[in-house]
Amino acid sequence: MNTELPTLAVTGSTGGLGGRVATLLAAAGVGQRLLVRDPSRAPTLDGAVPVPFAGYGDHDSVVAALDGVTTLFMVSAAEDADRLGLHFAFVDAAAEAGVRHVVYTSFAGAAADCTFTLGRDHFHTEERIKDSGMDWTFLRDNLYLDFFPYLVGEDGVIRGPAGDGVVAAVTRDDIAASAVAVLTEPGAHVGSTYVMTGPEAITMSQVAETIAHVQGREVTFHDETVEEAYESRKRWEAPDWQYDAWVSTYTAVAAGEMAEVTDDVLRLTARQPMTLAEYLARQ
Ligand SMILES: NC(=O)c1ccc[n+]([C@@H]2O[C@H](COP(=O)([O-])OP(=O)(O)OC[C@H]3O[C@@H](n4cnc5c(N)ncnc54)[C@H](OP(=O)(O)O)[C@@H]3O)[C@@H](O)[C@H]2O)c1
Repeated sequence: MNTELPTLAVTGSTGGLGGRVATLLAAAGVGQRLLVRDPSRAPTLDGAVPVPFAGYGDHDSVVAALDGVTTLFMVSAAEDADRLGLHFAFVDAAAEAGVRHVVYTSFAGAAADCTFTLGRDHFHTEERIKDSGMDWTFLRDNLYLDFFPYLVGEDGVIRGPAGDGVVAAVTRDDIAASAVAVLTEPGAHVGSTYVMTGPEAITMSQVAETIAHVQGREVTFHDETVEEAYESRKRWEAPDWQYDAWVSTYTAVAAGEMAEVTDDVLRLTARQPMTLAEYLARQ
């Protein structure tokens, strides 16, 4: 067993969420190994040791990289036709490597039949982790609030079949701070599922109004039909599963599956999560 490297492993540190988690852990003086596909892109942080591996699907390199790890922060993989297969391979290899506790970033409302198609992958990944024998903690993230400005088209319109549904989006900063609370005291969070949300649930019309107000520009929401949504997204070439994911993000909002507001960020971090207006005002 590798006893020289830190026993806490973090994935996704070259990305938005994992990078924030790694930075906060380093600031708290916590040692970590950063599992990275490209070590030259690993963040340089005190106490952080980049450990190269070939990705979630590569069994042997995962088992080697996780040798001696007790707690693993698993960021869900990038969208992929076989994301579930990658997740299963990674979870199985983590268990084989002797990992004791997986902290996984899942999705709000994850269920076998949830409207958001990728939420189903998250549900099945959670089940795989539960069946693995490892301890687990799930952070079920709502939509990333910091993505909302990017939903605005060049014409100032947010388009999608979200109707009057509300969404309790949350910033990646708030998710990362919550994750760090769990990772620095993992034993206290075994078997817990936390639903990561902002402090309010708002309609897409309110999202548009807030961006317009804070940024001083015209932004509106157009409630597309499902057919219009598939049609308008055809300007980006993509496989069918990707169109389904894009459109079902909005139909899940319409169905109320992203509406739940919790105080889990507050409970874990002792601070209120940011609203959209607060987030935008800080940019
Ligand atoms: N809640 C939401 O609204 C929402 C929105 C978008 C995505 N997500 C999910 O949340 C995850 C984290 O978000 P983010 O903003 O941090 O995404 P991001 O900036 O794209 O970062 C993804 C990270 O995961 C790593 N990664 C992806 N696929 C991998 C694989 N197969 N094997 C090993 N590492 C892999 C990437 O490594 P490389 O740098 O090597 O590629 C990168 O470090 C995403 O991957 C996605 O699953 C959630």
